[in-house]
Amino acid sequence: MNAATTPAGHSSADAHDVAAAAERRWAWIVAVIIALLVAMMVFTGIKWAAMPPSRVETIDPRTLHISGEFVESNLGTTIGPDGRVVSRLIAQQYSFEPQCIVVPAGMPVTFRATSTDVVHGFIVGTTNANTMLVPGFVATFTTTFQRPGEHLMPCHEYCGTGHEAMWARVQVLPAQEFMKRAARGEKVTCVRR
Ligand code: CUA
Repeated sequence: MNAATTPAGHSSADAHDVAAAAERRWAWIVAVIIALLVAMMVFTGIKWAAMPPSRVETIDPRTLHISGEFVESNLGTTIGPDGRVVSRLIAQQYSFEPQCIVVPAGMPVTFRATSTDVVHGFIVGTTNANTMLVPGFVATFTTTFQRPGEHLMPCHEYCGTGHEAMWARVQVLPAQEFMKRAARGEKVTCVRR
């Protein structure tokens, strides 16, 4: 409509300039948005790569065997003073300690585990108990096993040449049977002696 009221040559040159300016403006806006998105990706990527997620509990892998929570006599499943069932284990190239873990059915069980050497994996059969065991950090996982039975617990992080031979067993006992064994105060395991 405007083209009819102004000289034809002028109008198309002006319109071209206006369009070019608008395009440049939008190109800048889009460039800034893309730069912001890339910056966010780089920032979050570096942040998550540099920090283990959530509640962090550290431990010195060099003194694990000598003192503290993960000495051999303290590994296995116990009922804590607060009545919670806690199962402690360690992973090392190429085994878990204890090799056979006993837990009760139908009660929340908290696993506390760590590694003495490299990164190992922790997964119990087809349950949702699944985490990484990283040297220097204590991994915790709380889950409830619905039915008594037995699960395999393979290492699922490649940890060296013996990786595929690294696994343990988890025996889920009826709650009463477990309580009877745990009541004696000892650490319950199903390792054959
Ligand atoms: Cu330990 Cu794979």
